[in-house]
Amino acid sequence: MKGRVRVLAAAVACLLLSAGALYAYDVPKEIVIKRPEGNPPLADWVGSVKFPHGFHAVKNACEHCHHKESAKNLGEFLACTQCHKGADPNDNTGFYRAWHNDATHSCLGCHRKVRLANPKALPPLSCTDGCHKKK
Ligand code: HEC
Ligand code: HEC
Ligand code: HEC
Repeated sequence: MKGRVRVLAAAVACLLLSAGALYAYDVPKEIVIKRPEGNPPLADWVGSVKFPHGFHAVKNACEHCHHKESAKNLGEFLACTQCHKGADPNDNTGFYRAWHNDATHSCLGCHRKVRLANPKALPPLSCTDGCHKKK
């Protein structure tokens, strides 16, 4: 009986801790992705991208996109651009490819995959109607 109470107390403590950790997360609702310095747009129509982050974060696990985060540093989410800031559009660790790679943690990679599975699905593929809205 004592053993069971202790297990229960441990479970409650775990629940409280994880709830605390959850509330401590900062989940931005909308993010305008910042272009790193010394990294000019590849074309003149490329405007800044407003990313509905909260909308994506309720539908996908955080670590799906924040692929360098682990259980250890959950709650300390890094901006992708801390690492992905290089100007070479062919470099997978650069700025351009983080968003336009085939991997499903890349914007275009995931949107393509979802649309291939269901052509009526909503994620945008168009450059200027979808993400880089014309001003
Ligand atoms: C669909 C992909 C995706 C998912 C899912 C996602 N994020 Fe993000 N998150 C991003 C992108 C992209 C950025 C912008 C990074 C940048 O500007 O370099 C970002 C930025 C952030 C930032 C701001 C970082 C900074 O210092 O500017 C925080 C905090 C964050 N996310 C937390 C979370 C949490 C917590 C979850 C899960 C509840 C989550 N994210 C789920 C893609 C995602
Ligand atoms: C701590 C540094 C770091 C952060 C933060 C980071 N990445 Fe990465 N990313 C890398 C490195 C290094 C690679 C090269 C391959 C690997 O190690 O996974 C990479 C690879 C990628 C790839 C190519 C994967 C493939 O298989 O071709 C994509 C897409 C990507 N990252 C997107 C993102 C997005 C989106 C975010 C933010 C939500 C992000 N990364 C945050 C360091 C980072
Ligand atoms: C893991 C998959 C995934 C990733 C990664 C992802 N998206 Fe999406 N995105 C979706 C899906 C699915 C939808 C449509 C959801 C719906 O409407 O039900 C969507 C919708 C959108 C929309 C339209 C929202 C609206 O209100 O109609 C925009 C804009 C968008 N995504 C931008 C981005 C950007 C920018 C990135 C990268 C920084 C990104 N997405 C990364 C899956 C993803």
